[in-house]
Formats: sequence, C-alpha cells, structure tokens
Amino acid sequence: MNAKFDISGIRIETERLLLREFCDSDLNDVFEYASIDGVGERAGWPHHENIDITKKILSNFIKEKKTFAIVNKENNKVIGSIGIEPYGSEDKLTEFSNYFGREVGYVLSKDYWGKGLATEAVKAVIDYLFNSLNYDFLLCGYYDFNSQSKRVQEKCGFKAYRKFLFETNLGTKEPGVLNLLLNHKKNISLVFSHPETLIYKE
Ligand SMILES: CC(C)(COP(=O)(O)OP(=O)(O)OC[C@H]1O[C@@H](n2cnc3c(N)ncnc32)[C@H](O)[C@@H]1OP(=O)(O)O)[C@@H](O)C(=O)NCCC(=O)NCCS
Repeated sequence: MNAKFDISGIRIETERLLLREFCDSDLNDVFEYASIDGVGERAGWPHHENIDITKKILSNFIKEKKTFAIVNKENNKVIGSIGIEPYGSEDKLTEFSNYFGREVGYVLSKDYWGKGLATEAVKAVIDYLFNSLNYDFLLCGYYDFNSQSKRVQEKCGFKAYRKFLFETNLGTKEPGVLNLLLNHKKNISLVFSHPETLIYKE
C-alpha cells in the first residue's frame, strides 16, 4: 500500500545538506539545474525550455507536499530534489498489500555530481521514512543506461527487485530496474507476484 506522506514542516539536516519543503523563492535555483539538457532526461522528464515550465513544476511541488528541496548548506542554494512518490503499480505488486511504502526519485544539479551528495540525501530520507515514519519498504528505479543512479541506490542498500519497463514523461518507454529496500527493524514476509519480472533474492 502507499504510505501517507506530507512534507509540511519536515526538515532533515545532513553534514552538507538541508532537505526541506520547496518555496516560491526557489524558482531561479530550480530553473538553473532543471534547464540543463541531459539532466532531467536521465530521470524521464524533459529539461525546462523556459522558466514558466519551472514555475508550473515548482507550484506542483509546493501543492503536492511530497518533494524535498535539496539545499547545499555551503551557499544556501537549492541543488536538487527528492520526491517521495506513490508507487504506480499498487494493484499489480500484491506483495506489498499488507505493508506501507513509497517510491523515491531524485535529481541533482550537474555542477554537483560525483561528490556523494545524492547518496547523502537519499540515505537521510531513508532514515527518516524508516525510523520516524515507520515505513515498511521503499522502491527506487533506474533506467538501464543510468549507472550513476544504479550506484547511488546500491550505496543506499537497495537490492535489485524487478525488471521494469518505465513510462517516461518524454513519451518513451525505457527498460530499467526497480529496486527494493526493506525496513529490517520490521518483520516483513513477502509473497511475490509476477515471477516473470522478479529478480529479488532474500
Ligand atoms: C544520479 C545522480 C542523482 C547521482 O548524483 P551524485 O551526487 O553524483 O551521486 P553520488 O556521487 O552519490 O554517487 C554516484 C556514483 O556513481 C558513480 N559513477 C559516476 N559515473 C559513473 C559511470 N559512468 N558509470 C558507473 N558509475 C558511475 C560514481 O563513481 C559514484 O559511485 P562511488 O561513490 O562508488 O564512486 C545525478 O547524476 C543526477 O541527478 N542525474 C540526473 C537525474 C537522475 O539520473 N536521477 C535519478 C533517476 S533514477
């Protein structure tokens, strides 16, 4: 089942980052990283051709209350986002019918790649969702070509779960892998559906 999530008032601090709700004044920072060709495309969305597109996306982030702004503490700039998304296949993935979880998705400004920042942010979010909100599981996916994202998920403890054909916001279908992370403080016993796509080994 999809777990409830409402970002209102949540602030998570790590060594180099602050994760918090988005606000209107983040517009220019978001446009700066989201308008670069080849960043969003690796996560399935087109780069922003103009700031009006960013305005719309930012307004959705604020309204939907499920996306963290990743703030670089050094310069107080928003350098990315992490979404705590409903997982789309709730009806099909019956192994999670008695458990609560969500799907995590993220993007980081290209200027900051390769410094371990995405991993630092995702680990902090996992800690919050498992230890403060008591979630049972998290899903996270990557496209086959996206070795960086695959590595981030490995470093955060996710295990390969299913082969998946993702529908992107670019109007394409992209083969990839959906990963799974279980909250090991909890007694979770999964009866897996759809053996034809399953990779997971306990
Ligand atoms: C994926 C993304 C968030 C990674 O951010 P990041 O802060 O650079 O990630 P990290 O530094 O924490 O880790 C990246 C890892 O990938 C590795 N890596 C980098 N380029 C690589 C490549 N071409 N092949 C394999 N691994 C690679 C790095 O060495 C690092 O692993 P290491 O710590 O073991 O050395 C960032 O590249 C991004 O925003 N990409 C565009 C959007 C995106 O892909 N979102 C994810 C959608 S699933």
